[in-house]
Amino acid sequence: MKLDLGVLELGVATAATQIEGGDADTNWHRWAALPGRVKDGSTPARAADHWNRVGEDVALLREMGVRHYRMGLEWARIEPVRGVFDDAAIEHYRGELAALREAGITPLVTLHHFNNPGWLEERGAWTRPGTVPVFIDYVRHVVTRLGDLVDEWVTINEPNVYAIQGYVFGDWPPGEKRPGRAMRVMSHLAQAHIRAYQVIHALQPAAKVGVAHDLRVFDPGTALSPLDRAAAGVMEFLFQGAILDAMAHGRFHFPLTGSGRVGRGRFYDFTGINYYTRSWVRGVAQGVRPERPVNDLGWEIYAAGLTRLIRSVARKYPGPVYITESGTADGVDAFRSRYIYDHLAAVVRARSDVRRYYHWCFTDNWEWIEGEVARFGLVELDFETQERTIKESGRFYADMIAHGGVTNEAYLKWVLNSAAGSQ
Ligand code: FCB
Repeated sequence: MKLDLGVLELGVATAATQIEGGDADTNWHRWAALPGRVKDGSTPARAADHWNRVGEDVALLREMGVRHYRMGLEWARIEPVRGVFDDAAIEHYRGELAALREAGITPLVTLHHFNNPGWLEERGAWTRPGTVPVFIDYVRHVVTRLGDLVDEWVTINEPNVYAIQGYVFGDWPPGEKRPGRAMRVMSHLAQAHIRAYQVIHALQPAAKVGVAHDLRVFDPGTALSPLDRAAAGVMEFLFQGAILDAMAHGRFHFPLTGSGRVGRGRFYDFTGINYYTRSWVRGVAQGVRPERPVNDLGWEIYAAGLTRLIRSVARKYPGPVYITESGTADGVDAFRSRYIYDHLAAVVRARSDVRRYYHWCFTDNWEWIEGEVARFGLVELDFETQERTIKESGRFYADMIAHGGVTNEAYLKWVLNSAAGSQ
């Protein structure tokens, strides 16, 4: 065996808005309807048409031998009007979850993955403290109705990315450039997570609940520059250090706020890491080093960063770690197998209690403002015909699941000749 995964279990991940298709009224449907906001002009209305193809997709998961599936819910479908819950939407998700269970697949369900109902967006969404109890009503409803089919939950996906893209850079909805608001948004998301953690456990004592955090490595552009080193430390704290601590323990460090509203404690059963890349910090700027391999979106490929992050998380937040997302944009599937191999090896090298690794993504999908162009899937999607075809990297992934790791044959077949990345 070239790489033995031991107790690490492999799964695949998706998010509702990125695969379901249809015309739910979400912040993203509204955003995509505005000219120039999504690079290729596509909208989430098509995506992978998963809403209508649940049976086909569960069969495909089964064909690949997948036993862990991370999926999201579309809040706008479940609560299309504030306080009015749609029974048909819940029944649809019940059907999907039952089909997964029957196929021997354990679902990990995300309650919020960048997607707000339109009515919530209109009221200022997460900039307002009043959104926390509104979210909790939704969570209570979902867990009451789906809890017999789900016992693993991600409350919030990437609170930092949601807040920073939408309220600092402004290229995601609602398109604001007000960093103070981003901090408020993150604070409210942290409070929402803590309350949701408590509510889920009250309803389902044995549930496993966590957050999927976007974590990246921040390295100084010039190793010996005190300025770059200090800046890297500050950026890391603002981007991920503060929010990790707030959500895990209710410790709100400046500039986050909320200590008075939620107590202290331990509010996680696992720490979820979504890992994609590293940032090189030069003064106040951050970017990618020119000579490093990158993916189709220009994100540096740096597998060793995952080892570093897992070790740091395991030290600060004892308990199981789930890699809730890891994957790469590779339009022609030239380097995905190598990418996966290197990242799994990086997980094993961390010698920590990592239980799961969910590859992002199961199929090609609607990648937010990148639209339909960035290809993250193990399964190729023809958006026009909706035909699905397992990629070579998908076959490699299935082979790893079947063998509990990478056999010598698999390494020779899929990894050895795979490129390191594109430049
Ligand atoms: C993460 C998101 C996921 C997907 C990947 C590429 O930040 O959680 O929805 O967009 O990046």
